[in-house]
Amino acid sequence: MIVKIVSKNFDIENSHKLEVAVKNGRYSSLNKLFTMTPEEVTKEVIASGLRGKGGGGAATGNKWQLIPDEHEKPTYLVINADESEPGTFKDRQIMEYDPHLLIEGIINSSYAIGAHHAYIYIRGEYVFWAKRMQEAIDEAYEVGYLGEKIAGHDYALDLTLHRGAGAYICGEKSALLESLEGKRGHPRLKPQQKEPEWFFGGPTVVNNVETIASVPYIINEGFEAYRAHGTDCSPGTMLFGLSGHIKNPGVYELPFGVSMTEVIEKIGGGVKDGKKLKAVIPGGSSCAILRADEINDITLDYESLQEHGSSLGTGGMIFIDEDTSIPESMKNLFEFYHHESCGQCTPCREGCGWVDKILGKILKGKGSLKDYDTMLDACEMLNGKTICVFAPSVAYIADSYLAKFKNEFDVLCKE
Ligand SMILES: Cc1cc2nc3c(=O)[nH]c(=O)nc-3n(C[C@H](O)[C@H](O)[C@H](O)COP(=O)(O)O)c2cc1C
Ligand code: SF4
Repeated sequence: MIVKIVSKNFDIENSHKLEVAVKNGRYSSLNKLFTMTPEEVTKEVIASGLRGKGGGGAATGNKWQLIPDEHEKPTYLVINADESEPGTFKDRQIMEYDPHLLIEGIINSSYAIGAHHAYIYIRGEYVFWAKRMQEAIDEAYEVGYLGEKIAGHDYALDLTLHRGAGAYICGEKSALLESLEGKRGHPRLKPQQKEPEWFFGGPTVVNNVETIASVPYIINEGFEAYRAHGTDCSPGTMLFGLSGHIKNPGVYELPFGVSMTEVIEKIGGGVKDGKKLKAVIPGGSSCAILRADEINDITLDYESLQEHGSSLGTGGMIFIDEDTSIPESMKNLFEFYHHESCGQCTPCREGCGWVDKILGKILKGKGSLKDYDTMLDACEMLNGKTICVFAPSVAYIADSYLAKFKNEFDVLCKE
């Protein structure tokens, strides 16, 4: 079931060191890369069907094509290594075990979009991973994989690592760019039409770590090799994270389209301590929760999760056993969302707080039937009237908890 494309070198001793990385194929795509035009690289990525692994699943190559042909300021590539979504811990595996794969992907992708300066925006709390990544960047500069004339070719690229300061919202691409420009990390209003992002006035692509780490394989092996895995609409593989009440938690690279129940049994080893499964959050905490009886036909791809009323998100699956209180786990999540709302939009700033406070009241045994309805009202208010998708996502999560586990709220909300 496991297919190793991005995680191929994870188990090799000292795989993060340049010498070992090069011996095991890192930077091998560069020879082929520089025989291709940037347009050919983009076309290869489009043909592979590679989709963004940061949560939204947008088509990567098509996003690169949004960079206009003519523009005054330089083009940038920005790598989103903010990884703050609860249940998500895959990008740090790449930065820990194969940082040179990420750098190789950054060279491939920057060349495709015409960027000569790329940035990695890394989560503030990832102190170890920032150090590991910086060491790899330094090694790459020393031998000429970064800087002027990359690997002797007529192409220059600088790479800067920037540490965030611990705000979840800075994972949202426009907030990330604001923060990287030295401003407060607030999401920007988005235009109606499709556009690139903008960084210091230059057209910019923001991509997730795993997305970019998938590119060297596509360049080296060709788009058909990538498409040989996964499904038609969700080609290739993803690093799936298993956490919560599961016997074998961890990160596993699997082709899209595998059965969720098989993954739980064969990879995860089943629910911990022989208990029954109550629920699954399938792709990081911003996905609708699923009851155990809803997952039987689910396959791990964007389409199947959507058909079943949730989403694949970041692929970080959180398993919840029969003894866990859903109102308590919802409270835990809402403390997080309440704290992390950036506060620009009143419905989000106030709404997340209301739901958090009402859940606190209910868990103290002071809940009434009206409280359940007030939470539903707050969710309606959060939906669609805000600058970024944080608030609608929170509404969508809360709705799923309230609707699917109403019985547990009924017990707590008495009159
Ligand atoms: C609240 C919020 C938090 C996000 N956090 C992350 C994150 O930590 N890492 C990430 O890659 N994308 C995150 N995203 C998605 C990014 O905005 C963006 O879509 C993504 O980095 C694009 O890369 P991709 O196309 O390669 O997935 C977040 C989005 C939202 C709304
Ligand atoms: S929806 Fe929430 S997180 Fe997004 S901009 Fe508004 S207040 Fe900030």
